[in-house]
Amino acid sequence: MSEKVLLRFEDVSADLTDISQYVADGGYESTRKAIAELSPEEVLAEVKDSGLRGRGGAGFPTGLKWSFVPKDTGKPIYLLCNADESEPGTFKDRAIIEKDPHQLLEGIIIASYAIGCHDAYIYIRGEFADGYDILCKAVAQAQREGYIGDRLFGTDYSLNVHIHRGAGAYICGEETGLIESLEGKRAYPRIKPPFPAVQGLFGCPTIVNNVETLACVKHVIAKGASWFKAIGPEGGPGPKLFCLSGHVRRPGVYEAPMGTGLRTLINDYAGGMLEGRTLKAVIPGGSSVPILRAEETDIAMDFDSVAAAGSMLGSAGVIVMDDSTCMVHALRAISHFYHHESCGQCTPCREGTGWLDHIVTRVDLGDGTDDDLARLDSVAGGMLGNTICVLADAAAMPVQSFLSKFRDEFAAHVHDGGCALKDGRRAVA
Ligand SMILES: Cc1cc2nc3c(=O)[nH]c(=O)nc-3n(C[C@H](O)[C@H](O)[C@H](O)COP(=O)(O)O)c2cc1C
Ligand code: SF4
Repeated sequence: MSEKVLLRFEDVSADLTDISQYVADGGYESTRKAIAELSPEEVLAEVKDSGLRGRGGAGFPTGLKWSFVPKDTGKPIYLLCNADESEPGTFKDRAIIEKDPHQLLEGIIIASYAIGCHDAYIYIRGEFADGYDILCKAVAQAQREGYIGDRLFGTDYSLNVHIHRGAGAYICGEETGLIESLEGKRAYPRIKPPFPAVQGLFGCPTIVNNVETLACVKHVIAKGASWFKAIGPEGGPGPKLFCLSGHVRRPGVYEAPMGTGLRTLINDYAGGMLEGRTLKAVIPGGSSVPILRAEETDIAMDFDSVAAAGSMLGSAGVIVMDDSTCMVHALRAISHFYHHESCGQCTPCREGTGWLDHIVTRVDLGDGTDDDLARLDSVAGGMLGNTICVLADAAAMPVQSFLSKFRDEFAAHVHDGGCALKDGRRAVA
């Protein structure tokens, strides 16, 4: 095990779910500063200047997104906190909610103030039963202490925060699917444009932000844009939560500067590979992003560096695979997930995710043919960029990257009638 043991989010012992402890540590001071001392425009300018990019997957600049909200429509403006976290390999938002809910609430209050929202919603994944209870308690505490409600800090500004539970569908995390679900409908993603900032919840201007993004906002206001942008690379700075899972000794959620080396995260933070094992591959940003072979993992973990390496930082769900991993079997699990989660609106996604799932399963079971490998390439290629939302791309990209980087292993399954790792007929390189 690595000598350098770094603190995992899961090991934090202070009870920050208790508002008195949180306030004693300086909590809600940033919220007071934003609302009592700064104008909404000043808050927005600070967030823009910080260079904060969204932590939900796409990395869109947060301040820029907020600036798209039209203020003159006469309609209400909504803030939706996306707490639906369902991407396989990703469990950072749950850590924030369960360990430090008031940090998130501060981000929600400050963001709401900046965009002119008086009703904010937290859309929380249905399976997060503990997180839901913790958030309900935190909102009630914040209301009691006067941080949520009418005329905050003696100003004219008022805010309600509502919590809405999902019911277990990955597609509800897609921002327009989330909006439909919140409106009481089936979570069918909407065609964009119009983007939610202009026409979102109930047809009104709406900002959708990830839990971690909003948690960062609190720190931007507390310590200033220059503090935030001094951490990590210019193109996407700040502290970042990385979810380390798979074949490492200390899986967990680790906070590190944006741009921390992927190898450092694996070896120093997560304690290195399991005993006697070597690194085979890493999915750096949740199951939907292209996989990296071991020799491609000497990279910095920030939006631009991971993109330059041919993958994506995504949700920073780092899935580490050692030499015992069957890549066909791993892809089968991923393809099955996206097939199960497709909402079925678009033909390339509805049919394509089904074909990918069926064909990869066939190859995994040893019943595949060479034609099947070509079919996987062609089905995945036909899905990319041809659908309403990017779930289809999320299903197609792993197939393309697994096939291009581990083609020999797929071919071996076809020619040897199944997986050598499982039945010992052939050692997989
Ligand atoms: C299929 C799908 C699922 C998604 N799931 C989530 C999710 O669970 N949480 C999240 O924050 N963003 C998710 N996103 C991204 C959201 O659509 C949106 O970009 C994000 O919430 C914006 O927040 P940010 O700007 O703070 O990153 C998903 C996107 C897609 C296409
Ligand atoms: S791409 Fe898939 S999940 Fe997205 S809207 Fe189309 S069918 Fe639904």
